Amino acid sequence: MNEQEIILKTVDFVKEKLQNAEAGHDWFHIERVWKLSKKIAETEESNLLVVELAALLHDIADSKFNDGDELIGPAIASSFLTSLLIDEKIIKEVRQIILNISFKGGNFNQTYSSSELSIVQDADRLDAMGAIGVARAFNYGGFKNRPLYDPDISPNLHMDKEAYKKSTAPTLNHFYEKLFLLKDKMNTKTGRILAEERHNFLEQFVNQFLKEWNP
Ligand code: ADP
Ligand code: NI
Repeated sequence: MNEQEIILKTVDFVKEKLQNAEAGHDWFHIERVWKLSKKIAETEESNLLVVELAALLHDIADSKFNDGDELIGPAIASSFLTSLLIDEKIIKEVRQIILNISFKGGNFNQTYSSSELSIVQDADRLDAMGAIGVARAFNYGGFKNRPLYDPDISPNLHMDKEAYKKSTAPTLNHFYEKLFLLKDKMNTKTGRILAEERHNFLEQFVNQFLKEWNP
C-alpha cells in the first residue's frame, strides 16, 4: 500500500469511529488538526507520514470519554495500523505521540519528544484557541452541563493531572486554567506565529464577556 492509500484508509477509519463524537472532538476537529499539522510541517524537519497518521488518530479514543483510560487510544491506533501492515517503527512513533499529546493541566513533565509530536501538538492546541477554541470550550461545557461562568468560583492554576480531569468548574475558568496558557507552550515557530492572533481573540472574547456580565 502506498502512503496515499494508507492516509485514505485512515481517514475512513477515523470518520467511522468518530461518528457520534461530541462536536469539539469530532471528525471536523481531526480534519482541522490534520490540515494545520501539514501546514506547520512545511517549515519543520519531520516524517510527514508519521505527522499525518498521528494527527488523524490522536483523538481516536480520548481518555476523557473512556473513563480516564489513557491507553485505549494508542492501542486502537496501533491495532488499526498493524492491520494495514505498516512498519513497526512508524506505529511506535504514532503511538507515542497519541500517548503524549494531551495537556492535562500542564503541571507534569512530558517524557517523550519528537518533531512530529511537536507539530501535531501545536496543531491540536491551536484548534483549542481562537474563535473555534471558544466554540469548542462552550460545547464541551454544555456537553458536561457546566455553568458558563460563576464569579464565586475562581480558576485553579495548580491542578495536578487527576484534579484537572475531575474538575467540574464553569467553562470560563477553563480559559484561565488552560486556553490562555497555550500561547507560551507552542513548540514550533509557525505554531507560535499562528497562536498569537488566536490568543488575542481569546482575550478579547473574555474581556467582552466580563463587560457584559457586569454592566
Ligand atoms: P486536554 O488537553 O484536556 O487533554 P483536549 O486537548 O482534548 O483536552 O481538549 C479538547 C477541547 O476540549 C479543547 O477545545 C478544550 O478547550 C475543550 N475542553 C477540555 N476540557 C474542558 C473544560 N474543562 N471546559 C471547557 N472545555 C474543555
Ligand atoms: Ni484533539
